[in-house]
Amino acid sequence: MSREVVNRVRERLAANRLGGGQDKIDRQHEQGKLTARGRVEQFLDQGSFEETDALVEHGCTDFGMAERKIPGDGVVAGYGRVDGRPVFVFAQDFTVFGGSLSEANAAKICKIMDLAMKVGAPVVGLNDSGGARIQEGVASLAGYADIFLRNTLASGVVPQISAVMGPCAGGAVYSPAITDFVFMVENTSYMFVTGPEVIKTVTHEEVTMEKLGGAMTHNSVSGVAHFAAPGDTECLAQIRRLLSFVPSNNAEKPPVVETSDPLDREVRELDDFVPTDPNKPYDITKLIRWAADDGDFLEVHQHFAKNLVVGFIRLGGHSIGVIANQPAHLAGVLDINSSVKGARFVRFCDAFNIPLWIVEDVPGFLPGTEQEWGGIIRHGAKLLFALAEATVPKVTVITRKAYGGAYCVMGSKHIRTDLNLAFPTAEIAVMGSQGAVNILYHNEIQGADDAEAEHARRVEEYQELFANPFVAAERGYVDEVIMPRLLRRKLVSAFSLLKNKRDTMPAKKHGNIPL
Ligand code: HXC
Repeated sequence: MSREVVNRVRERLAANRLGGGQDKIDRQHEQGKLTARGRVEQFLDQGSFEETDALVEHGCTDFGMAERKIPGDGVVAGYGRVDGRPVFVFAQDFTVFGGSLSEANAAKICKIMDLAMKVGAPVVGLNDSGGARIQEGVASLAGYADIFLRNTLASGVVPQISAVMGPCAGGAVYSPAITDFVFMVENTSYMFVTGPEVIKTVTHEEVTMEKLGGAMTHNSVSGVAHFAAPGDTECLAQIRRLLSFVPSNNAEKPPVVETSDPLDREVRELDDFVPTDPNKPYDITKLIRWAADDGDFLEVHQHFAKNLVVGFIRLGGHSIGVIANQPAHLAGVLDINSSVKGARFVRFCDAFNIPLWIVEDVPGFLPGTEQEWGGIIRHGAKLLFALAEATVPKVTVITRKAYGGAYCVMGSKHIRTDLNLAFPTAEIAVMGSQGAVNILYHNEIQGADDAEAEHARRVEEYQELFANPFVAAERGYVDEVIMPRLLRRKLVSAFSLLKNKRDTMPAKKHGNIPL
């Protein structure tokens, strides 16, 4: 071995590790951010990182760039393991030209994406970048488009996760947007298509970066991001936790995690947990945790459209995707945002062989001009489409209200849900008793001597007839009425039965979900 070559390799690798230099690394740390390499090393199983293309350099000669080359060129890329499973990762290095995307570093990202597709392993992107490398012009834009294409082709084949851990602006936002889950770090990350200065010029609005595109804005207002973390370390830990619930690719099943939680554990508190009064709220996440292995529930999109709860649990060690109306927020009504939130989650689970547990307590779709003009018809149809299309095991539990179109949408038997269970508190009807009586008996109530008493009598009569699970159960729309305390046992048994379920879609290029 030539000592000279070895020394040159060492020198270049040292330059690669130093990125944009110690002063820029210090600045990164001062802002409470880890460096790109620090992030990768903290994210992966200790010592498992293998770096690819550490010696890649850009080929730009304009603007004096020929003299400004740093091995690696602003992105740390490679592969390693998370809980022993292979994962591909890239991290933009803000210390090198602001983490900006060059033709060369885009090619590095594309290379690991291509390999991830062949290997069948997730791709995790840690974004921290000033966007397109300005000195490279269209070559940089081409690099973005190359990545967008791969994001699209990999969608539904391997899980793709983005963490935004610094700036992510302009067209650069569209790579995270195509991936399955977006994580953001509070106070240090932001995403927007056009920044505050451009907005001020065009629309005269004044808005801060944080308010425009900070972590909580995208987690709670726009729904662009699914998770918010207080810092880099927490963000990376959250991604590892999410990966523990999902398979490495669409041909595999999710990993099984052993549990000592008894499969037949009864929860006595559940018998009286759901209020019989349809107007009384309760927290559906409590019920989900009661059913889950060790009470463990990873909520996704926790801060967005809180009237629908989605996330992952395990039952007997197997991953399950949960989609549940939340009566504690807007009475669990379905609206535009919750429909889109639910549809996207369902499609992820279906693409990656994760069975679905649908928990239903829904008064219907939210009325109003805002919703109608906003397109609740096409947005609500997304959730319907996604649930009907899904071929993974589907189990629905109706805890209380299952009214109207929302009954059909939320995993009804008719959209090929496999097992439908109901609590004795279930009410399956076209609408709630007050609304129904007002429509059916308007004249009788108006004409009665004591209108109030007549109204009350009719409501009681309607409730007697419909405010129960029996009409649906008599028709076989509900397979079993269960005692709530048996929820966990029944779910474990249902999903175990359905473990090898096979269902298909008619031959087609792809469906046309109402986007
Ligand atoms: C080249 C860049 C760069 C870029 C930052 N730098 N962005 N170099 N191309 N896009 C360099 C800076 O010159 C600086 O170099 C170093 O990175 C750190 O940047 P600072 O400005 O000192 O950092 P900070 O004050 O933290 O501000 C960060 C920033 C700002 C807000 C991201 O740098 C910025 O506004 N950058 C430009 C953003 C932008 O307009 N990008 C193009 C967007 S359009 P030195 O050598 O001085 O340390 C786009 C299209 C994508 O991305 C299209 C996809 C289809």
